[in-house]
Amino acid sequence: MREAFRRIYGADPEGIWAAPGRVNLIGEHTDYNDGFALPIAIPQHTLVAARRRRDGRLRLHSAQGDGPVIDLHADRLTPGVVTTWGAYPAGVVWALHEAGHRVGGADLHVDSTVPSGAGLSSSAALECAVAFAYNDLYELGLGPTVLALIAQRAENGFAGVPCGAMDQLASACCTDGAALHLDIRAGTHEQVPFAPQAQGLGLLAVDTRVKHDLGDGAYAALRTGCERAARLLGLAALRDLGPQDLPRVLELLPSRLVRLVRHVVTENARVTQAVSLLRAGQVAALGPILTAGHVSLRDDFRISCAESDLVVDTALAHGAHGARMTGGGFGGSVIVLAEEDRVEPIGVAVTEAFRAAGYQAPQLLPVAAAAGARRVG
Ligand code: GLA
Repeated sequence: MREAFRRIYGADPEGIWAAPGRVNLIGEHTDYNDGFALPIAIPQHTLVAARRRRDGRLRLHSAQGDGPVIDLHADRLTPGVVTTWGAYPAGVVWALHEAGHRVGGADLHVDSTVPSGAGLSSSAALECAVAFAYNDLYELGLGPTVLALIAQRAENGFAGVPCGAMDQLASACCTDGAALHLDIRAGTHEQVPFAPQAQGLGLLAVDTRVKHDLGDGAYAALRTGCERAARLLGLAALRDLGPQDLPRVLELLPSRLVRLVRHVVTENARVTQAVSLLRAGQVAALGPILTAGHVSLRDDFRISCAESDLVVDTALAHGAHGARMTGGGFGGSVIVLAEEDRVEPIGVAVTEAFRAAGYQAPQLLPVAAAAGARRVG
């Protein structure tokens, strides 16, 4: 990173920061309903080498795009001014200004091992790495939760994606060996030990290579549908419903909203169940909860796709404890929980099933609960 930074900008960076991607174990499309989620940070991460600039310029370069340096002015950022990957780092600087922090310019060089468009939160990793870098360089003294919310604001207000806060909170606040139990309404989170390998289990992420794009309107439509259902029911958010309320309230809604509400309510309950199991050390018992979450996203939220369903079905047929699509949906990645010695054969079987179906070969990524964003150099 230092070498590349020197080559691009002709000086040494002041430091290097890392922020991970995430997989969500359970709790999908619950964050913007004020509910619960249970993500882990993954070992794949984004690095940002950074150096302050006195002239207010914000220069951005990525090892991935390998395009030209994007040259902006930190004080003159407005939504829409950058529409490429640069919207994420520029959005963080914009969001810091918006929150009243007097930060200046910087040279940033970015490199990442989080595949983009794979539902593993590459954008949150980039935003959080930049937020942590700015926090240190400009001595803002902000904690990980506040930085995560700045990163989410960047994505909502600058990049134009109406996401909830799960991805950024996971990237900023996760710790090694633990899942993050998020309670979005309360604004709190708890670390729940998650070490499948200690029980002879493995967690595999399978990138289906079906590119998901949260900016394409489908995500926003789901969010709007959930908010409309809450309004029709006279609730602040769907979080206010428990499974016992379902028979009563579902009669009051049109069928599309029934499906959305049923998913959100049962999904929140699955998070609570999953946390209890993890606290009791019963990691394998998480499997059926993961699979039930997938069925709910497939049949009620209707955001799975043939490739994701094929991964889940193949993994289960080859002995996985459970499997589900993770993230926003419409492609992206599937997580598979299995006995450690089943992980490889499941990967082989999934790859073979994709070949037989004429799909592009999936990417297999063994994952474990890794550390959240931090300074690394
Ligand atoms: C995307 C969003 C998150 C969350 C998930 C679905 O990853 O960025 O805020 O809503 O989808 O759980």
